[in-house]
Amino acid sequence: MDIREGLTFDDVLLVPKYSNITSRSQTSLATKMSRNISLNIPLVSANMDTVTESAMAVVMAREGGIGIIHRFLTIKEEVNEVLKTKRSGSVMIEKPYVIGPDQTVSEAIEYMQEKGVSGLLVANGELRLAGILTSRDVQFADSSHLVKDVMTKDVITAKPGISLDDAKDILQKHRIEKLPLVDEKQVIKGLITSKDIIERENFPSASKDKKGRPLVGAAVGVKGDFMERAEALMEAEADIIVVDIAHGHSENALSTVRHLKKAFPNCELLAGNVATAKGAEDLIKAGVDAIKVGVGSGSICITRVVTGSGVPQLTAVMDCAKVGKEYDIPIISDGGTRTSGDVTKALAAGASSVMIGSLLGGTDESPGSTIMKNGKRFKIYRGMASLTASLGRKSKESGFVSLDDDLNDYVAEGVEAMVPYKGSVTDIIKQLTGGIRSGLSYCGAHNIQQMQENAEFIKMSPAGFVESQPHDVSLM
Ligand code: XMP
Repeated sequence: MDIREGLTFDDVLLVPKYSNITSRSQTSLATKMSRNISLNIPLVSANMDTVTESAMAVVMAREGGIGIIHRFLTIKEEVNEVLKTKRSGSVMIEKPYVIGPDQTVSEAIEYMQEKGVSGLLVANGELRLAGILTSRDVQFADSSHLVKDVMTKDVITAKPGISLDDAKDILQKHRIEKLPLVDEKQVIKGLITSKDIIERENFPSASKDKKGRPLVGAAVGVKGDFMERAEALMEAEADIIVVDIAHGHSENALSTVRHLKKAFPNCELLAGNVATAKGAEDLIKAGVDAIKVGVGSGSICITRVVTGSGVPQLTAVMDCAKVGKEYDIPIISDGGTRTSGDVTKALAAGASSVMIGSLLGGTDESPGSTIMKNGKRFKIYRGMASLTASLGRKSKESGFVSLDDDLNDYVAEGVEAMVPYKGSVTDIIKQLTGGIRSGLSYCGAHNIQQMQENAEFIKMSPAGFVESQPHDVSLM
């Protein structure tokens, strides 16, 4: 039996090339994430329950990447995370959240919290605008009072179709934050908020859909409710559906892709994970628009330890990228990314973008609260096939985990861990993109495509690896 050599990021370096780039700002990180989705930075946040819900997805899109909402939620909850992402930063909210004048303040507060908004329009049965209710109105109000008693009744409105500049003028002139759009019968037709206008101006590279709203993806599995879930997510206008399974080169994955593409031909579909050229080709033939590559490479993965299976990540990306190029289907490198240098190597090896978990975990935007250990702050970051994640899912499905459950029924392929608390994810993204831009420059490339054409890898000896790290100094 021939045994091939498999390499990963720490086995290689990119050979520096002549560069005429004088500033990192001359480089472009624009890329294709899938057949029909373009991004301004090649970063995708992982569909994991300790990484991506709406808070992460909003920032990923704002910075030019995309977040994929994880699937370990009820369908309603996952749809809600997609809707929350879409609403933030959209130019005009088409269907603003509405409450009735005879509902109570406590119902209004609950609704605002559920939807993650700071205000509601108040409308009667025919969606006729009766007032506006903001968190300030309810802050000190008795929770049993009715909405109509505390709402603002004199509302400044505008007609649907108003230009953004005119809307901005009205918001500024009246020093208000929300501008409901109503027709001649006062029926609500939309909402423009100052926050969204400011956000649009502050983040010109944000990834947006055709209506100017943030791009967002959402994951489904290959069993149970996946068709119903995918349909609900598409109705919520998720931009890409991710078929998420550890072994993507399996009949379960292929038939799920075929079913989804047949039922929803216009659905943008990403599937994975695979680690071989054949795996990539079979997914392409089943109908995917992008492929996620990486088996056992993730920081919290123990698939290779438990099953003995996997392919070192750089080789996996190179093998799959060859096929991806042949069929013009983008490849996403998923797992094992620890530095901006690793992202650059994955891109140079042929990936169009990189999915990241642990680097983005432990941030303000990742789900979960911080915990203290030895005087330092951490957040939980866990594998989706870890024991606690699996038991959590089981208890969510059946309402409980019984002490009689045989823990040997669960063979974990991931671990639960802690990562240091890192503050805002925006800073992490800025550091990563800065590093990738410098990486392009070292390759003499102005953009990712040029780097892929020019890149030359060199294999390192263990001594070369040691030399590549800080050495012979005491780190502060
Ligand atoms: P990083 O290295 O960025 O990797 O933390 C994130 C990726 O790891 C994968 N993942 C898992 N793989 N068992 C695995 O073998 C798991 O429990 C697990 N959970 C996540 C996933 O592809 C993710 O994007």
